[in-house]
Amino acid sequence: MAERKRLVAGNWKMNGGRADGLALARGVAERARGSHGCDLLVCPPFTLLATAGKALAGSGVALGGQDCHAAISGAFTGCISAEMLKDAGCSHAIVGHSERRHTCGETDADIRAKTLAAWRAGLTAIVCVGETRAEREGGRAISVVEAQTAGSLPDGATSQNLIVAYEPVWAIGTGLTPTMGDIAEMHAAIRARIRADTRMLYGGSVNPKNAAEILALEDVDGALVGGASLKADDFWAIAEACG
Ligand code: 13P
Repeated sequence: MAERKRLVAGNWKMNGGRADGLALARGVAERARGSHGCDLLVCPPFTLLATAGKALAGSGVALGGQDCHAAISGAFTGCISAEMLKDAGCSHAIVGHSERRHTCGETDADIRAKTLAAWRAGLTAIVCVGETRAEREGGRAISVVEAQTAGSLPDGATSQNLIVAYEPVWAIGTGLTPTMGDIAEMHAAIRARIRADTRMLYGGSVNPKNAAEILALEDVDGALVGGASLKADDFWAIAEACG
């Protein structure tokens, strides 16, 4: 089987000012200087990239953006290009998070274009897919996620430029998680559509208590963590659950 190093990524979402962002980044950096067995990434809000980047320098923790625009530059008020993320010290960009698919109306085609933009800038794209509660209850979870995967992922993926994150919409921020069987089934369905050496993360209410069980599943190569990434101790406990 292809070697896939585990990754624990923190998505801070729209949280934090300079003082708490700095304290959190310092907390993660301090812990990361000790020994650990996985790659680590934090994705702060754009306003904290510089602050967090400075605090993380030399710790081995990578920096990522939470979104990018498809264009290099131009009249796109409020948007950030992949090149700007790269210039700000990022190595990764999350694209297609469900909070953007559902609240900003992003389509698979938009996410595909953003993935290509991330690649153009030399970033690793973390492409998110996941079904809603109604889709799961209607027995359509797998077909919905397969369609998102097919529509959002451009040709040209390598082991380095792409990570896929399965985040069931109904599990995000709710404390609910799918059964281990459902996670494994979905990851296997996605795996059938991507390279054997592409990493796949699970996201949705990952916490220090459930991380070990989720991370032990075949085809789960790490976690994309929201709420629990806002506390350095919890984020670190999840990283330690990688073994
Ligand atoms: P929570 O961990 O808060 O459920 O968020 C998951 C997520 O959306 C990460 O991108």
